[in-house]
Amino acid sequence: MREFLPENRPLLLLAPMQDITDLAFMGIMERFGGGPDAYVTEYFRVHEDSTLEKHILRSIDENRTGKPILAQMIGQSIPDLVRTAKLLEAHAVAGIDLNLGCPAPVVCNKSAGGGLLRKLDHLDVILGSLREAISGRFTVKTRLGYHEADEFAAVLEIFSRHAIDALSIHGRTVAERYRTPIHPNWIRQAVEQFPCPVFANGNVVSVETGRALHAQTNAAGLMIGRGAIRNPWLFGQLRDTYEGRAHTSPTLGDVYHYIKALYEETKRTTRFSEAKHVQKVKKYLVFIAQGIDPAGAFEHAIRRVKTPEAFWEQCEVHLAKHSDELMKGPPQQSKVFCGFEALLTQD
Ligand SMILES: Cc1cc2nc3c(=O)[nH]c(=O)nc-3n(C[C@H](O)[C@H](O)[C@H](O)COP(=O)(O)O)c2cc1C
Repeated sequence: MREFLPENRPLLLLAPMQDITDLAFMGIMERFGGGPDAYVTEYFRVHEDSTLEKHILRSIDENRTGKPILAQMIGQSIPDLVRTAKLLEAHAVAGIDLNLGCPAPVVCNKSAGGGLLRKLDHLDVILGSLREAISGRFTVKTRLGYHEADEFAAVLEIFSRHAIDALSIHGRTVAERYRTPIHPNWIRQAVEQFPCPVFANGNVVSVETGRALHAQTNAAGLMIGRGAIRNPWLFGQLRDTYEGRAHTSPTLGDVYHYIKALYEETKRTTRFSEAKHVQKVKKYLVFIAQGIDPAGAFEHAIRRVKTPEAFWEQCEVHLAKHSDELMKGPPQQSKVFCGFEALLTQD
């Protein structure tokens, strides 16, 4: 991945998010804020009977962003991971990524995703087999460990046996899910120890938290997930600050146009009824609604809407004609974004 790294700033990546970072969302990221430098697909599920999921494949085959996209797989069956990696390499991917972070019990109990961090011997064989089978780039996205952050020393030892091309690290354990501050010190350890680029992930919700995570880890890249759903302009804002330009802040009116574009674009690419579509868009609104107004009135209202009419009424009232700037980050007491303020107080 070294060839993709910009000279004077970290590479910016959109974190893969299931049911969120699809083709429509990628297009919207480009339109609002210029998008990241690179993408990763949602995970392709890999098992004995798996085939490549068509809706995820579209984000590769119809990728018009001009940016590289890694195809992510999740699974634990070696022949099926190898088979799937080869199928994916026939498409226009920048590389194949293995998920070692998903905390969902149904995934971990099958020893896939984050569950593989409890099976390091098996993980070692998977990495060796995939490295041998993949002719292009092979990357890994991992958490620190299953129960404790210091398990990462042993995990890194396993990674070091294989020539991986990049390592994205969500700086939490599986047990910590999304509920805690992250552990930048372990990401820094990987940066210092590994020859390949390391991308730091977790709790970047603003320019300040992004710069803080970068300063604390010296990572080659920043991977941003939920913070980019809330504020897609974040990629452009980070690029601007690193390249010495003043960055502009979106207004609530801009957020309205972003939601409208997201609504229309996701509607164009799915076949949901209008009512079901509102439910789909509400998945994004869980994040976008954080910190729209200090009292959380928009979030409260949007959680309850069921019809398109009610949805748009709330967007009109709280966003459409407002020229106030979007708050820099979500509220500190947010249950959706936890522990990000710790990045600003750590050395
Ligand atoms: C709704 C949702 C879906 C996710 N799906 C995936 C996924 O498919 N693959 C993956 O590696 N991580 C997935 N993640 C984890 C994110 O990629 C990322 O590691 C995590 O959200 C921390 O980064 P953030 O604080 O910038 O959001 C998902 C996270 C969320 C919130």
